[in-house]
Amino acid sequence: MTSAWKKSDWRNKERIQMPDYTDHAALTAVETRLSSYPPLVFAGEARSLKAKLGKVSRGESFLLQGGDCAESFAEFNADMLRDTYKVMLQMAVVLTYGAKVPVVKIGRVAGQFAKPRSANMETIDGVELPSYRGDIINDIDFTPEARIPNPDRMLEAYTQAAASLNLLRAFSMGGFADIHRVHEWNLGFANSAGAAAKYTQLANRISDSLDFMTAAGINSDNTNSLHTVDFYTSHEALLLEYEEALCRIDSTSGLPVAGSGHMIWIGDRTRQPDGAHVEFARGVQNPIGLKCGPTTTAEDLKILMSKLNPENEAGRLTLIARFGAGSVGDHLPHLVKAVKEEGANVVWSCDPMHGNTIKSTSGYKTRPFDSILREVREFFGVHNAEGTVPGGVHFEMTGKDVTECTGGVRAVTDEDLSDRYHTACDPRLNASQALELAFLVSEELEQRVVAQRKAG
Ligand code: PEP
Ligand code: CO
Repeated sequence: MTSAWKKSDWRNKERIQMPDYTDHAALTAVETRLSSYPPLVFAGEARSLKAKLGKVSRGESFLLQGGDCAESFAEFNADMLRDTYKVMLQMAVVLTYGAKVPVVKIGRVAGQFAKPRSANMETIDGVELPSYRGDIINDIDFTPEARIPNPDRMLEAYTQAAASLNLLRAFSMGGFADIHRVHEWNLGFANSAGAAAKYTQLANRISDSLDFMTAAGINSDNTNSLHTVDFYTSHEALLLEYEEALCRIDSTSGLPVAGSGHMIWIGDRTRQPDGAHVEFARGVQNPIGLKCGPTTTAEDLKILMSKLNPENEAGRLTLIARFGAGSVGDHLPHLVKAVKEEGANVVWSCDPMHGNTIKSTSGYKTRPFDSILREVREFFGVHNAEGTVPGGVHFEMTGKDVTECTGGVRAVTDEDLSDRYHTACDPRLNASQALELAFLVSEELEQRVVAQRKAG
């Protein structure tokens, strides 16, 4: 079926949420250059991620996906990447402890630059301008020039993605992620408060186990899995000119692969079964994510599953549920039933961020920690009731000490939001909120393990 597919076929379908570039010659020049550049990721890596997600779909691993809502050119530096990476490692340790299975780590990073928007126009003080659509498309500055889509920005995004991947690979392979450094991943500013203290206790227990293993002859020199981690990249494949230009043929299988990231996903606004985004994603071999919001019908989901995963390959499709606290029960059960009826292999992941965005009284876009936690619990509740696997979580988070989401043990209040509100798009969990949430998710996972042991 995919043999007839061409990477440019999406151009014949209806496209939404994509810019209209006015300078066609400039656009073509950028596409030509990007097409000649090396891919950012390799087919074998995408395949190994798919195999790992296959295990997630069967409950043999757990998925942690997280990072910025939107990566930004201005906020790009090594410390930022390192700190987010550290928090992901900490969260993975906490989740592994609860779930008793390996955690597959995927960053929203090295390509997460294009944003779908609810409104085409933005108005400030009576001035109306086109919305900001992510650094790969236009500039966040509120001026008419800044908001013009500029294809050259794709080249800068590619360069930043390549530099990010280079550093992330170094962190993963070069000793930084060695489990013996479990204590050193704690971030200075988060050291005193609730989740960080709990983390230190857990790290002590892990250190004890590692001492025992060393005495028994198992160490980082002879056991690679203690010394390195697999860390994968992902982003929303929204800007299809960029995706097409980085699409390559895998020399092993002869099949097309998105070279822009290990996993790509389709957003909740662009998942029309006959639209351009589904058309592109269906033809590449990578693991694909599909956001499922409140308007997802069981019928559409069945069509999307057959288009995106016709061979019913385990690990190919991750359904990312994002309904909002209080409404998971209205939507998730009938989608879970649709998946069961089809006998479809999917990973179910929970994005408790995008259904819980509100405007604070101070005017900032925020997300209350309690709503985020409640949605995760509702997600687990539905899967526990349906006998299906709650495979993972998907967070917008950063290693920085920002004040964007309210609540948490080191409570961020409405009044605090203006202190360190740095996101280029949606509000992110800060490092201590992210870690706290990992502990709470870990408790849910632990309860499932206990229940399963009792049952069988
Ligand atoms: C996102 O993940 O940043 C996003 C826009 O999500 P959704 O498509 O679910 O709204
Ligand atoms: Co977002």
